[in-house]
Amino acid sequence: MFYAPRGTQDILPADRPYWRYVTEQMHAVAALFGLQQIDTPIFEEAALFVRGVGEGTDIVDKEMYTFQDKGGNELTLRPEFTAGVMRAYIEHGMHVLPQPVKLYSIGPIFRYERPQAGRYRQHHQFNVEMLGELDPAVDLEVMSVAWTLLTRLGYRGLSFQLNSTGCPVCRPAYRQALIEYFGAYRNRLNEVDLRRLAINPLRLLDSKEEAAQALLDGAPHSSDYLCDECAAHLATLRSYLDALEMPHTINFRLVRGLDYYTKTVFEVWAEGIGAQAAVCGGGRYDKLIEMLGGPPTPGIGFGMGIERVILSLKQQGIQPPPLPAPRVQVSPLGEAARVPALQLVRRLRNAGIAALLAFGNRSLKAQLKAADRAGIAYTLILGEQELAAGAVLARDMVSHAQEAVALEGIVEWLRRRLT
Ligand code: HAM
Repeated sequence: MFYAPRGTQDILPADRPYWRYVTEQMHAVAALFGLQQIDTPIFEEAALFVRGVGEGTDIVDKEMYTFQDKGGNELTLRPEFTAGVMRAYIEHGMHVLPQPVKLYSIGPIFRYERPQAGRYRQHHQFNVEMLGELDPAVDLEVMSVAWTLLTRLGYRGLSFQLNSTGCPVCRPAYRQALIEYFGAYRNRLNEVDLRRLAINPLRLLDSKEEAAQALLDGAPHSSDYLCDECAAHLATLRSYLDALEMPHTINFRLVRGLDYYTKTVFEVWAEGIGAQAAVCGGGRYDKLIEMLGGPPTPGIGFGMGIERVILSLKQQGIQPPPLPAPRVQVSPLGEAARVPALQLVRRLRNAGIAALLAFGNRSLKAQLKAADRAGIAYTLILGEQELAAGAVLARDMVSHAQEAVALEGIVEWLRRRLT
């Protein structure tokens, strides 16, 4: 027996209405905001993520699927979209296009994590990036994409978690304040957090360890250390969010698990998925493109976990519309009817009418039962008599009324009834 690898799942036909509904809404909302779709490879050079996401992050240190290909190249299955999209922006000289360049992607992401509800080793994201503009109105636009989408999907009571992580001008002082504060309690911290203290003290703020959490009440807040520019950026963004009635909570513990963030960081949480259930998270990364070898270019974006969105839709009892299915079945009776039946289903499909063909030599009764189960509206029965008359017997599966219809006119006959 083989099983799907731990932390991965098959997306079965029964779940497809959710996937279709959610991804169709994603494309539709992207169009409302003038976002353009970009697809980058599922694997990239490992060094891109090491440099972009950052050494010392959980993603780079513990979660990457990195392998050597037969040519000796170090490649990594993408653990996020952003670094690859930035690589493409630089590689294709998109800085010469009108800015901001507004891009979105939908696809699988790979992280070697401890699987649990809503946390997988392969998940899918809807990812949005807006590049080349520092205006806080772009922050608002990016957050509005998430807001509009989640609202259209039926979420109520939405609220953003918001923070500013500062910039290279003001972050060093904040970092130092954290080192001094947590450093004073060094003997209470465990090994994991001592490592965080040494490499990235901001990560202590979202530590899952009890000892670190007990110290949070007295910890310094980044908002008290922001430089004038970062403080003004946050204040302007908040005024826009207020003006548009998009509730947000300043959360000084929101630091996010990727190193590239500057200024704005945000998440949207949903209830009922389990531990730390962010359906979406993102922020600004004004130094990232430069760090990856491109021209200085600010940017902001977010990623939204599609599995998590679907889990929370189910939790809230939100039903997607059913997927369209064939409503016509062609049922040949006897050997002589077989080829005419094959010809008839082809004719129906060529005319754009979705149709099923009954296989094997099952009795008419069995074929009708199968049609009922498949939600068929009309079964077209092809028996000896009908064949001789150049007709089919069309059976209405609800009323059970049967009518002989000339083969010639069957497409029109169905069209009139199948709207
Ligand atoms: P992230 O917060 O690591 O950000 O992931 C974005 C979203 O993907 C999360 O909020 C969550 O919904 C979903 N997600 C993450 N990991 C898993 C998992 N193991 N299983 C299921 N869902 C998961 C990023 O990836 C950034 N690249 C987002 C971004 C874009 N920032 C700027 N631009």
